[in-house]
Amino acid sequence: MAIDLVVNGQRVSVAVEPTTPLLDVLRNHLDLKGTRYGCGLEQCGTCMVLIDGVPEYSCAREVGTVGGRAITTIEGLGTPDRPHPLQQAFIDEQAGQCGYCLSGIIVTAKALLDRNPSPSRTQIIEALDNHLCRCGTHTRIIAAVERAAKAGAPA
Ligand code: FES
Ligand code: FES
Repeated sequence: MAIDLVVNGQRVSVAVEPTTPLLDVLRNHLDLKGTRYGCGLEQCGTCMVLIDGVPEYSCAREVGTVGGRAITTIEGLGTPDRPHPLQQAFIDEQAGQCGYCLSGIIVTAKALLDRNPSPSRTQIIEALDNHLCRCGTHTRIIAAVERAAKAGAPA
């Protein structure tokens, strides 16, 4: 069965069962490997993507529920040559060790800055509450979001 999606502004059609996890479709059918599998149980945040601008887990989300909705992955923000200001801020703050958690955290931070361009430290912490970082780089992650906010990260 074909499911029509809008991913990073591009219309795509994938031949999968509607119950297939969105994360599986992104990684294995659309070759968007930036979004990662962690727990598979909506508990770690590594699989976070934006659906109509709202952070949503993709590991247990059935792709059949997101047809026609705007899905944004980390690949939709910037490129290595032209990083999004949030990505640049994470580089500048060296806000990561293994980096496994960062794609989910950065898209959630983007959603935060889109709705609140000048968040307080507490608001950043609250926004990232659904994300785990096993390397313990939380302090630098928060600093990176603060840096991006100060720089006026664009949508
Ligand atoms: S892999 Fe989806 S929340 Fe952990
Ligand atoms: S940087 Fe390793 S899990 Fe966050």
